[in-house]
Amino acid sequence: MNLIQWVDFPPLGDERGSLVALESGKTVPFPIERVYYLFGTVLGVARGFHAHKKLQQVAVCVTGSCRMVLDDGERREEVWLNSPTKGLLIGNMVWREMHDFTSNCVLLVLASEHYDETDYIRNYEDFLKGVKND
Ligand code: TYD
Repeated sequence: MNLIQWVDFPPLGDERGSLVALESGKTVPFPIERVYYLFGTVLGVARGFHAHKKLQQVAVCVTGSCRMVLDDGERREEVWLNSPTKGLLIGNMVWREMHDFTSNCVLLVLASEHYDETDYIRNYEDFLKGVKND
């Protein structure tokens, strides 16, 4: 399976502007249990640096841009999130890092589970061990 998987959000535009609707289990391929967004990220700061045991997420830059690095333990790829109509699907057991946030970046994240700190793997060596045992 491709490490980079986009989810397209068709814009429902008319002469007044654009609108994107996100529906749990439809436009987003899992039931959405949580929504959060990152904004006001200080220039030069990188975030993430973790994987999740179970959690699936879709991340979309509704404004601005950032660079997302994904790593499944074998492959490391990077993409720019810079479109409010393109979400990036991030599966479980994928290491993610976010870099190069523009000052206006609002990164919206749709998540398949409620917040659970025990689902995080924050150490890269532990992540690699977890991938091998999966
Ligand atoms: P964290 O996941 O470490 O941020 P990132 O990976 O984007 O750099 O989250 C930062 C803090 O916010 C951390 O203390 C946990 C808390 N948090 C919640 O309480 N609920 C949430 O849904 C998220 C995503 C984070």
